[in-house]
Amino acid sequence: MPKTKTKKRILTGDRPTGPLHLGHYVGSLENRVKLQDKYECFFIISDYEFLTDHLSRTEELRKNVKNLVLDYLSLGIDPKKSTVFVESEIPQISELTLLFSMLVGLSRVKRNPTIKEEIKTRGISKASYGFIGWPIAQAADILCVRAELVPVGEDQLSHIEQTREIARDFNRLFGFVFPVPEALTGKVARLPGIDGRKMSKSFDNAIYFSDSPKQVKEKINRAITDPKRIHPSDKGHPEICNIFQYYKAFNKEELNEIKEQCQKGKIGCVACKEKMAKAINEFLEPIREKRNYYSKQKNIIKDVLNAGNKKTEREAAKTLALVKEKMHLDYKLIL
Ligand code: TRP
Repeated sequence: MPKTKTKKRILTGDRPTGPLHLGHYVGSLENRVKLQDKYECFFIISDYEFLTDHLSRTEELRKNVKNLVLDYLSLGIDPKKSTVFVESEIPQISELTLLFSMLVGLSRVKRNPTIKEEIKTRGISKASYGFIGWPIAQAADILCVRAELVPVGEDQLSHIEQTREIARDFNRLFGFVFPVPEALTGKVARLPGIDGRKMSKSFDNAIYFSDSPKQVKEKINRAITDPKRIHPSDKGHPEICNIFQYYKAFNKEELNEIKEQCQKGKIGCVACKEKMAKAINEFLEPIREKRNYYSKQKNIIKDVLNAGNKKTEREAAKTLALVKEKMHLDYKLIL
């Protein structure tokens, strides 16, 4: 009997730093939910990455991991189709990180633009070895299941490039083990926070999936629009307005109409924001309902993670055994 074609693999995930927000959705979550049927999906909760800049806040981890799984479930990630797991539960990832670290020159590590940018924006004064070396650990996350596609936000592209280099270098030096994974970015490359900076918990400018309708309205009201527009009849410039970016992602039906009305000074920012808050709340309503449903199921989080950790460890163990064999790090024959 011919073997049915196995599905290609996806791996992506999040740091458990706090609740997920709309920026995560346009970057990678929308793609993840959509691709669950076509691909075999692995979603990592990257708790080791949390340590890279939250070392003094580890007491938050349990709560954050729990909420992240709830966010996933309420957004439509289906544990029957996809595998959700916790990074630190898979020891093979750490072993691969060590082995991969031998393949990457120090100057290459220091050149990573996302790492440089994050040191600046997160105001990290003394970046640790673990933080600077993070892209190598992320390569181990991706390659432990030999993933072929990685849905991510734009800011992660330099890490995927590093992963691709590691996969290629490993294969060239030791023989083929790893597919060279591709990044997949969302339709809207970047959704700004309500103040125009990158949407991030640390800037207090994010709209969360767990926000109430009132919180959404209040945040949209606070958003910075076109700063040159003072009166509703002034001609607006949608391309520099944060709210207009939200229309592109969450209210395409009214996008063209709003653009025209804004440019002609026929709709004011207050009315435009009202429409947007309504659209976001409509988008969030089914997600809120599912969150409510899942938060009442007693063992769901434990069950999802136990099954996910087990499956991932099985796959990672196969990969690591292959890696060690190729590197002649297996001593079964002489021990
Ligand atoms: N670094 C990613 C972020 O900050 C999270 C992450 C960890 C990840 N491991 C990954 C993403 C592997 C894609 C693949 O959002």
